Amino acid sequence: MKQSVAITVNGTQREDLVEPRMLLVHYLREVAELTGTHIGCDTSQCGACTVLVDGKAVKSCSVFAVQADGIGVTTIEGLAEGTSLHPVQQAFWDEHGLQCGFCTPGFIMATAALLAGNPSPTDDEIRKGLEGNLCRCTGYANIMRAVRSAANAMQGTGGVRSTATLASQRTAVVGG
Ligand code: FES
Ligand code: FES
Repeated sequence: MKQSVAITVNGTQREDLVEPRMLLVHYLREVAELTGTHIGCDTSQCGACTVLVDGKAVKSCSVFAVQADGIGVTTIEGLAEGTSLHPVQQAFWDEHGLQCGFCTPGFIMATAALLAGNPSPTDDEIRKGLEGNLCRCTGYANIMRAVRSAANAMQGTGGVRSTATLASQRTAVVGG
C-alpha cells in the first residue's frame, strides 16, 4: 500500500504517494523528475546518487523515500542560484574535474557537504571526505584540484551565500 510523504526537494515542498520500498534515488528521478542524480551501481558503492539529506551527504540508493518524509533534500539541480553556479560546480567546470561526467553530480554534492563542514580541508581530508565516491574514468587528479579550488572560492562571499542558502532550506524544513 502506498504511503504519503512530504519531502522538501530543493526548497520546494512536495507531497506524494510512494511505495514503502521505493528508494530515495528512484523518488527523485521518477517522481520528482530530477534526473541529475545518477544511479551507477546496485551496491551503495559508487556515490553517483549522492544528495544532501538535511544537509548531510547521503547515497540516495541506500535509503527509502519514506525515510526522507518531513526532511529537506538537495539535489544537484538545487545547488545553483539562478544562472550562478554554486562555487563547487564552478570549480569542477574551471578545473575540468570530470571526463564522461557520470559521477560528477555525486562528487559535487559530496564536495559541497565536505566543504560545509570543513571549509579548508587538507588533501588527506579531501580524499577521506570523498572516499565514498568512485570515478570510473579515474579523473581523480582534476577532481582534487576542483575541490581545492572550490574551497578557496568559498572563503569569499559567493560560497558563504550559497552555503547559507542550503542552511536556510534545511531550517525551513526542520524548523530550527
Ligand atoms: Fe548509489 Fe552507486 S548508485 S552508491
Ligand atoms: Fe566518468 Fe567520473 S568522469 S565516471
